[in-house]
Amino acid sequence: MNTEIGIKLEKAIDFLNEGALVAIPTETVYGLAGNAFSKESILQIFEVKNRPHFDPLIVHTHSIDGLLPLVTHIPEKAKLLLKAFAPGPLTLLLPKSDLISDLVTAGSPLVAVRIPGHALTLELLKNLAFPLAAPSANPFGYISPTTAEHVKAQLGGKIPYILDGGNAMVGVESTIVGFEGEETVIYRMGGTPIEAIIELIGPVRFQTSSSNPQAPGQLKSHYAPKKPFLVGDIKELIQNYAPHEIAVLSFNSFFDSIPQSQQIQLAPDGKLSSAAFNLFDAMRKLDGLSVKCILSEFVPNIGLGAAINDRLLRASVKS
Ligand code: TXA
Ligand code: MG
Repeated sequence: MNTEIGIKLEKAIDFLNEGALVAIPTETVYGLAGNAFSKESILQIFEVKNRPHFDPLIVHTHSIDGLLPLVTHIPEKAKLLLKAFAPGPLTLLLPKSDLISDLVTAGSPLVAVRIPGHALTLELLKNLAFPLAAPSANPFGYISPTTAEHVKAQLGGKIPYILDGGNAMVGVESTIVGFEGEETVIYRMGGTPIEAIIELIGPVRFQTSSSNPQAPGQLKSHYAPKKPFLVGDIKELIQNYAPHEIAVLSFNSFFDSIPQSQQIQLAPDGKLSSAAFNLFDAMRKLDGLSVKCILSEFVPNIGLGAAINDRLLRASVKS
């Protein structure tokens, strides 16, 4: 199959209406999208992504009006979050309505729903008669794509169309939030900072690390490059290797002992938003070098930094 990259909304609409899959831009990462109401499209998503069927999919819609029919209840705290952060890098786990099949939720009574903050994709969603189920557009377990070219490099030949919406501006996946009784539960740290959520709706409980295969985004090893990826004190790590053997991914320091082509600073300006924006592209670039391993360090653990550190840690764990 020939995979075209383009900006034509009509093409994306036609393919999706026919039941085919289209990669779509969002503000977090690119998604591999199909008709959330079509069993065949859902099955194709799992197949193309090589994703186990027990890993449920996020359903994307254009507005709160689009979301209402997909769920049976929206808790007050969820309403506040939607009002503050949607469209945006936020996914809510809510009780699913009968419109959502067990295939999408992997048998869970809860559906993950999100209104993405990307103008082109919102326009696409408004022109479809169904919401879009979309996991990140990468093979299961590998680094998420933040450009159309990233998607083509990994899924080229398997899908007909990649809707090009430029660089994903946030760069890490959405924050996943659920509700258990009165409790707010964070299942994945992401583009909406936890501090902002707590400020709005009070304390949260974290359930972000798990060996429970019900939620593979929580798996310890995920978002992983192919090369060994070590996180820690870079200066100490560097001493164990010859300079030609390593690539270095730093927050914003440069190392004179390492060739320039083998190091990337995530945030030359020191901003966490820059680090998030650059993270997955930098991991990919370094993964493509002929070095033995990639050495990295944690970024300041506040705001977006918590989501970045989560990805660095999971990239460093070998399954
Ligand atoms: O930013 C994002 O959320 C991106 C863009 C494309 O929207 N999507 C994304 O999807 O990251 P994916 O499939 O790569 O990660 C979704 C995570 C998975 O860890 C999955 O297990 C969890 O959400 N998830 C989805 N539906 C769920 C459900 N019903 N219950 C619990 N976890 C769920
Ligand atoms: Mg993913």
